[in-house]
Amino acid sequence: MMNGNEEHWGIETRSVHLGGGYREETGAVVPPAYLTSTFESGNPGGFDYTRSGNPNFRNLEETLAGLEGALRTTVFASGVSAITAVVSTLSSGDRVVAEENIYGCTFRLFDQVFGKFGIEIEYLDLSVAENIESIGRRSPKLVWIESPTNPLLKVIDISAVADATHAGGGELVVDNTFASSCLQRPLALGADISLLSTTKYSNGHSDALGGAVCCASDEWGDKMVFAQKALGLQPSPFDCWLIQRGLKTQPLRMQRHCDNALALATFLETESGALAVRYPFLPSHPQHDLARRQMSGGSGIVTADFGMSLEQTVAFLDSLQLFTRAESLGGVESLSCHPASMTHASVPKPVREKVGITDSLVRFSVGVETVSDLIADLRQGLDKVRQ
Ligand SMILES: Cc1ncc(COP(=O)(O)O)c(C=O)c1O
Repeated sequence: MMNGNEEHWGIETRSVHLGGGYREETGAVVPPAYLTSTFESGNPGGFDYTRSGNPNFRNLEETLAGLEGALRTTVFASGVSAITAVVSTLSSGDRVVAEENIYGCTFRLFDQVFGKFGIEIEYLDLSVAENIESIGRRSPKLVWIESPTNPLLKVIDISAVADATHAGGGELVVDNTFASSCLQRPLALGADISLLSTTKYSNGHSDALGGAVCCASDEWGDKMVFAQKALGLQPSPFDCWLIQRGLKTQPLRMQRHCDNALALATFLETESGALAVRYPFLPSHPQHDLARRQMSGGSGIVTADFGMSLEQTVAFLDSLQLFTRAESLGGVESLSCHPASMTHASVPKPVREKVGITDSLVRFSVGVETVSDLIADLRQGLDKVRQ
């Protein structure tokens, strides 16, 4: 199947055909799931024990590396496992500069786990140019950003942060989960690592957990393989099988997520009476021009502040029929989330409020359903709660 032309293939072709090395062995069009914990010594694939490698890991790693433009990719049990693997490479006394709006569990890991081992974390608003310029003199070992951020959808200038990070001798990690490998390529913008919670858009069907570290160097690749094995952060082969199946339709799903989310954000901004609506491809987004330069679509997440009380906000979410109130995002089904009580509950309230995660903020993961049905559902929910 591989003929050396893969680099020139479009993203849809790469999503369907990369990671197909298994075919040479049996001709199977779809790979088997290798549900084995161990392998006979001296086998041609070089496998020994599934904690440090499995053919389903290899297939998925090849596909993700091709989509992200990475030299090496290592897969993990979840996005949080992938984050743990990267941060575990640091030593006591090392400094991390992190964007102040990051996923709540990343914050918790920095604050309550790695902080104990002497890793210093400094939080900055990296949508502000002077803060980016200050990175060099802070000499961080790693700079950690998400773009767009969870849940406020701030868009961070990846190239500018990469330049400032490298000038200070550090390396840049971009959590690419919200944008997905289809819409943004952090490594091509200068990042050293693009990290994914493959639980989300990569898999797309809310039925598996996974994470991946896609990197531009063998040095990082080797460190990640070591972390996978030494810390026991490996995924299950069956989850890798599911995620690789999900990746085949990711470009099609992302197209629909983007179209639906833009339509829904436009409805919310113009007709819902919300105080603020955030979506990277809405012209009112503060970093709209940057989003258009850096991403090929706005992705599927929309946030809105309806200016309602905590009780009213939760009642509104509970009145929706097509948006299930649930953690996570990036599946074909629409979900709603109340970050202050769900994904970011582990962030202390003063810290949450400082970065804009108020009690009335709502995050929608817009699915691939018929968009007029989604808008009608939001309309009935708002009418009900405002009666
Ligand atoms: C931006 C981001 N990074 C990482 C994670 C963690 O991924 P997982 O839940 O697969 O551990 C999440 C989960 O929501 C996320 O939103």
